[in-house]
Amino acid sequence: MVDTKTQYHKIKKEVDEAVINVLESSQFIGGKAVGDFAANLAAYNQVKHVIPCANGTDALQISMMALGLQPGDEVITPSFTYIATVEAAALLKLKPVFVEVDEQTFCIEPLSVEKAITPKTKAIIPVHLYGHATDMEKIMSIARENKLHVIEDNAQAIGSDYIFKNGNVQKTGGIGHIGCTSFYPSKNLGAYGDGGAIFTNDDALASKLKMIAAHGQTKRYYHDVVGCNSRLDTVQAAILDIKLKHLDEYIEARRKAADFYDKGFSGHTKIKVPFRAGYCKHVFHQYTLVIENANRDELHQYLADNNIPSMIYYPVPCHKQKMFEAFGGNNFDLPITDWLTERVISLPIHTELDKEQQNFIISKVLDFLNK
Ligand SMILES: Cc1ncc(COP(=O)(O)O)c(C=O)c1O
Repeated sequence: MVDTKTQYHKIKKEVDEAVINVLESSQFIGGKAVGDFAANLAAYNQVKHVIPCANGTDALQISMMALGLQPGDEVITPSFTYIATVEAAALLKLKPVFVEVDEQTFCIEPLSVEKAITPKTKAIIPVHLYGHATDMEKIMSIARENKLHVIEDNAQAIGSDYIFKNGNVQKTGGIGHIGCTSFYPSKNLGAYGDGGAIFTNDDALASKLKMIAAHGQTKRYYHDVVGCNSRLDTVQAAILDIKLKHLDEYIEARRKAADFYDKGFSGHTKIKVPFRAGYCKHVFHQYTLVIENANRDELHQYLADNNIPSMIYYPVPCHKQKMFEAFGGNNFDLPITDWLTERVISLPIHTELDKEQQNFIISKVLDFLNK
């Protein structure tokens, strides 16, 4: 699905040098590389504070802790997402309230959010799935009216621009009260191991987030609140700082590959290519088709038989996962989510994909669907 090896070879000299610098400095935890990367990422993402942490799941958990959410508080999230979004809420004994996604964008649907609000609702967690932004202008307006916090799960959309109706442009992850991201290796900005970060423009929240990620301490060995240990490795920060300089070029390569797929599938009655809302710039973490009037699972197998990787993100929506039975997952009726989970399929998309590979993939998908 990705080719991180070829991508590494293109920046090998810079990366190797950065890693050796960390090794020579013997500063493996914190230090200059982590501070530099956080500052550069804050500038790139147009946010005041970036708090690096160990992974995207921690970023979500620390965010919910920093907002002071308490057991029983309700958080509204899509069910059509990676489990990490909701698992962090469950760990804190919050009540996940699953709502529908928009059929075209695959992101949380504002009207469903409004309908799900109760006196216990404390936060909304929109997920910018596959690299397409949620309709954040509406989500933020709902949050303001109902005095709710917004935590953006930006793990799949780093670098995406959101365009407000007045023409203002803001990177996703910097629109809500808090934004979370993951540097999992296959992500658009991927480390060579685990990593994550939290974004905020709020000074007080930034202090809390930092404190919680560092065992609840402000001063070494003085612990004011219960926190956790969540750090971005120095080696990973040094690598990410190099890769950040290439992020826009990586996004452009993904968008070009998506354009090429779009053309290859154009007009096919059984294929819905990814929708691109006018309010955002899709960064194509995934290139996900909706297959109609054909067997998606058989297509998945047919591609595998032809040595083409494809993935089903996600075969079981969160509300139907066993994990959430105890949280009343079964009580949610989400027909659009269910419909999508039965029909989506993601094709390889990455910075190194060439036209020959794409033509082969397109021809095999069409062979199967035209049978
Ligand atoms: C939407 C979403 N949220 C959260 C995460 C969790 O990130 P991590 O794997 O770094 O914990 C991921 C990535 O895997 C993700 O895709």
